[in-house]
Amino acid sequence: MLKHWLHETKLTQSHKLLSFNFVDMEDSSHLLNDIISLHNKLHSEGYLLLENFLPKKKVLKARKTILKLTNNNPQDLLNRQDIYNHYSVLEVLESKKIFKLCQKLFTINCVPRTEIYNEGKKTELPVKYSRYPNVFTFPYKWLRAVEQGKYTGLHLDRYYLNKGSDNIVTFWIPLGNVSKENGAMSVIPNKFITNAIKIRIKNLLEKKLEDGNGESDGWLDESELEGVTFVSHDFKMGDVVVLTLDVLHKTLSNNLKEKRISCDTRWQPINDKYPPW
Ligand SMILES: [Fe+2]
Repeated sequence: MLKHWLHETKLTQSHKLLSFNFVDMEDSSHLLNDIISLHNKLHSEGYLLLENFLPKKKVLKARKTILKLTNNNPQDLLNRQDIYNHYSVLEVLESKKIFKLCQKLFTINCVPRTEIYNEGKKTELPVKYSRYPNVFTFPYKWLRAVEQGKYTGLHLDRYYLNKGSDNIVTFWIPLGNVSKENGAMSVIPNKFITNAIKIRIKNLLEKKLEDGNGESDGWLDESELEGVTFVSHDFKMGDVVVLTLDVLHKTLSNNLKEKRISCDTRWQPINDKYPPW
């Protein structure tokens, strides 16, 4: 059952007080053995919360590695290939559990395994993951340490990843406990998307096509979305959120001194077009 836990008010630049409803995300872990229901839920709601999906010990180890390699001052992690490719970090960001789940999810409505030939040329499969031959994960990792007062605005990933596969999914991985106090992922489930919001999304995407570049930051102005309902959660290490390309989401502001560490990892069927930019 959905639990109301926060009613956020926000002061806009024009000093208008906005009001949003927040309810708790529904955990979908009980559907992990029912892949059709899980797939349907992901594509109808636009997101999945999977609590305790990754081993806590490994997530903690990855966090400790990040802190150690940055002398306890994580910053500019988006450019730290050495960190996100470190074995103990990659073990979480490219967890075999995610490969396994994507392998199942991508089997539904995706190019079948037999279509491994691309323009008559056999596609090279990554050897270490040959057990999951349908799955490709982007080598780049959106690893972030978000400082106090910062957040990511409301957007849909298609705005940035619009030139490749429609089947891309993002696994948002908190590398630490992330609550509504320090920047939790928040989503507007597809069922709460009104026609007015749909029009705004369409305009945003069309504007990007006209502009022909991604220079605009792609965040939707929330001042016209008053009353809309978000879902969010107090995330523990090991929890993940799966997002489709078209679901509206943001991260809440980090109100704590300690930086919030999290990573967006991206996954798609191996035969789909890549890259999406
Ligand atoms: Fe995003």
